Amino acid sequence: MTSEPIIILGIESSCDDTGASICKDGKIISNIVASQSIHKKYGGVVPELASRAHQQKIIPVVKEALEIAGVELTNLQAIAVTKGPGLLGALMVGTSFAKSLSMALNIPILEVNHLQGHILSHFIDEPHPSFPFLCLLVSGGHTLIVEVKGYFDMEILGRTTDDAAGEAFDKAAKILGLGYPGGIWIDRHAQAGNPLAFPFPEPKVPGFDYSFSGLKTSFLYFIENQMKANPDFIQENLPDISASIQYRIVHYLLKSLRLAAREKGIREIALAGGVAANSGLRKALNEMANKENWKVYIPDFQYCTDNAAMIAMAGHFKYLMGDFSDQELVPMARMNF
Ligand code: KG4
Ligand code: ZN
Repeated sequence: MTSEPIIILGIESSCDDTGASICKDGKIISNIVASQSIHKKYGGVVPELASRAHQQKIIPVVKEALEIAGVELTNLQAIAVTKGPGLLGALMVGTSFAKSLSMALNIPILEVNHLQGHILSHFIDEPHPSFPFLCLLVSGGHTLIVEVKGYFDMEILGRTTDDAAGEAFDKAAKILGLGYPGGIWIDRHAQAGNPLAFPFPEPKVPGFDYSFSGLKTSFLYFIENQMKANPDFIQENLPDISASIQYRIVHYLLKSLRLAAREKGIREIALAGGVAANSGLRKALNEMANKENWKVYIPDFQYCTDNAAMIAMAGHFKYLMGDFSDQELVPMARMNF
């Protein structure tokens, strides 16, 4: 007798991406994301608009994820949903939807921490890191070094005390008049630039923590001063400026990661979050890995940025553990592991 497959619908709505994904017996068979372009003209995510766009997109996105997977609602065994951290109004759309659907189908809910979801995205494809590993989670909202001892046994070793690494990229891009989100534009312009052209100061924070706000301010003052002397400064030096700020952010991120890896004696190193797409970071991480004898893991790009596949995957592990949520599940804007 064959047992029924474990089919889980994952839902993600913590920020500005509405995602739905189907995980069947631990394999992702569909992953749909509707990214909200409305925030572009404001140069950052507008929470009220994000909630509204999630409301519009959640049903079409879930329908498409089911359709592509060839799965009916009645085949689902459980619904995994992001509980937090994130924007409260945005999270409420996903959690309310998940609760209603779980009630209608009489199936359990699995609540997933968004950050743990990012980290567990490493188990979607092979090869995956073995425990214990260190994960550098770098996104628009988070910058963390996490020691991952088990699927849900994680310890934060370091975190940003102010802005996230992605925000540092986005703010630098805004100062330069580039598009939003800015990380990708800095990355593109940096390709042709000299990373040592403008030496921006390295922030100093004890331990494995980070701080990016001072770097942002010194970048702003530097650009303002240069523009006073030469109004065409940005235009004439965009590749060098981009390469230099990218170099500073990347090398700062990796410095603490190396410290943590050495102190913990861990050589399995994973990268997660939207900033993992940065080509400078990938290159520098691989170079460091050669020197430090690390094994490096970087998920497929679609699993680096916000997505529901990582939520469905985390949900699969929770399902196996029997770790179900109660129906009073409420989203949390801030939460640790
Ligand atoms: O993980 P993510 O999609 O959303 C959050 O949970 O925040 O990350 C978005 C962040 C943005 O700050 C964006 O600028 C950054 O990832 N990002 C990049 C690149 N692609 C996206 N930063 C640097 N280089 C890139 N190529
Ligand atoms: Zn995220």
